[in-house]
Amino acid sequence: TESARKSMPSALTFERHAKCSTTKARASTLHLPHGSVQLPIFMPVATQASLKGLTYEQLRQTGCMLCLNNTYHLGLKPGQEVLDAVGGAHKLQGWDRNLLTDSGGFQMVSLLELATVTEEGVRFLSPHDGSPMLLTPEHSISLQNSIGSDIIMQLDDVIATTSPDHARIKEAMERSVRWLDRCIEAHQYPERQNLFCIIQGGLDLELRKQCCAEMVARDTPGIAIGGLSGGEAKEEFCKVVDTCTGLLPEDKPRYVMGVGYPEDIIVAVALGADMFDCVWPTRTARFGQAIVSSGTLNIRHKEFAQDFGPIDKDCTCACCRPTEQGGLGITRAYMYHVAAKETVGAHLLTIHNVHFLLSLMNAVHQAIREDRYPDFVRQFFSNQYGGDK
Ligand code: GUN
Ligand code: ZN
Repeated sequence: TESARKSMPSALTFERHAKCSTTKARASTLHLPHGSVQLPIFMPVATQASLKGLTYEQLRQTGCMLCLNNTYHLGLKPGQEVLDAVGGAHKLQGWDRNLLTDSGGFQMVSLLELATVTEEGVRFLSPHDGSPMLLTPEHSISLQNSIGSDIIMQLDDVIATTSPDHARIKEAMERSVRWLDRCIEAHQYPERQNLFCIIQGGLDLELRKQCCAEMVARDTPGIAIGGLSGGEAKEEFCKVVDTCTGLLPEDKPRYVMGVGYPEDIIVAVALGADMFDCVWPTRTARFGQAIVSSGTLNIRHKEFAQDFGPIDKDCTCACCRPTEQGGLGITRAYMYHVAAKETVGAHLLTIHNVHFLLSLMNAVHQAIREDRYPDFVRQFFSNQYGGDK
């Protein structure tokens, strides 16, 4: 189509610093409208224009330069009119760093059982009043234009990777390509918001290859790999990421959506992925789980009642840092004391967990730049499976 051929302006530059000599890992800097970010990156999820439990000042202090919002949630509340009146989600939230919005279809299909997909878009019943609504590619982009996020995502047709319905998976992949064309056509501000395509095709590598070829031809400023956070086997996950990155241009950022656990991120980086998001670090914090280099700790466990060390001895977050160094000097014993019933326990663990993931990604970036990523990966897994708590 016409829109496929006309080259899209972009609002980013991708600066690559280093490539690992033995894996496909890359270290780069992505320059975005609200500041530059180091890749590989983990992006925390602030679904309702707030990272549950954190003020934006606290989120800034974790070092976060790019976080996620959801088109579906913001479109319902506060709604497009309010977003237009205030001048977008950065202003609404008082967040002057970068925002990425997901397009909304994935959330509807995963949250609302009554969502159905047709060629037009995703039909669903409003969770507010039950009235029928339709999210089309055009409407998703219009909402994301009102939100003003630095990276916006195409509306895609997402099928669970574990679905046995091959014909439906193929249809969803092809429909996602058609919807990308409609998104490109509808996008009003390509010079200030970067539209990313999303590769679909389930676990079928042939479908993934076809999808890569179609999407790459549309020349969006960045490329996402979708449909992978659904509990597929690790080996299948790796094959899909590896196959896709092998077909993607070297000079564009690659975003694996909805992933994930630190071990999945570490492996996907070795396969050439640059960007990740997941609700897990923030959600698990609200269940009393602290992410540490040996895995996770359930801070509500009695063994911590008299443990006066920090949550993680190497962590430099505002909680773990000693008071002499300007931190809060929070101990595991204190966390045990507050984690069960006080909201402050969830806030502190959220700060720690987000900081932990962000500094892990800094260490990943550094290791790639110094061409010692394979050693870094070995050390990471040896800490997970044998390290001290
Ligand atoms: N979040 C996790 N996976 C996906 C996906 O495949 N598409 C979209 N739009 N969002 C996601
Ligand atoms: Zn910490």
